[in-house]
Amino acid sequence: MPLMEWDESMAVHVDELDDQHRQLIALINEAYDAVRRHDEHKRAELVDKMARYARLHFATEEGYLMRYGYPEIEAHKALHAKFNADVDEFRRKMLEKTNLSQIFVFLSRWLITHIMDEDRKYSMFMPKEESHAEE
Ligand SMILES: [Fe+2]
Repeated sequence: MPLMEWDESMAVHVDELDDQHRQLIALINEAYDAVRRHDEHKRAELVDKMARYARLHFATEEGYLMRYGYPEIEAHKALHAKFNADVDEFRRKMLEKTNLSQIFVFLSRWLITHIMDEDRKYSMFMPKEESHAEE
């Protein structure tokens, strides 16, 4: 059973970005499975995978925000940069001392809150041809 599933409440109405958000949720579920199996040696691998995919996703997302003139782009980019920096710091200093479930809570909570609260703010700035919004 996956921990969470993507649903319409998370939609930003840009197919490429919604697909990437689904992929991030799939990685969160994979990490959750490892937590449940107490699979601690998957720890570094899962953190790397999530961090790498998040970086790729942020770059794609920032491209859309720039292209369509999202007015809050600088603040949004700063949130991404802060997350990347926190993850780097975490890997350098804490990865060995922290168990998988603590790492999991940190990464998954940040990503889901970010998608639900911050990413949805830009969806209304996306153009109609990229947007499937009903409003
Ligand atoms: Fe974002």
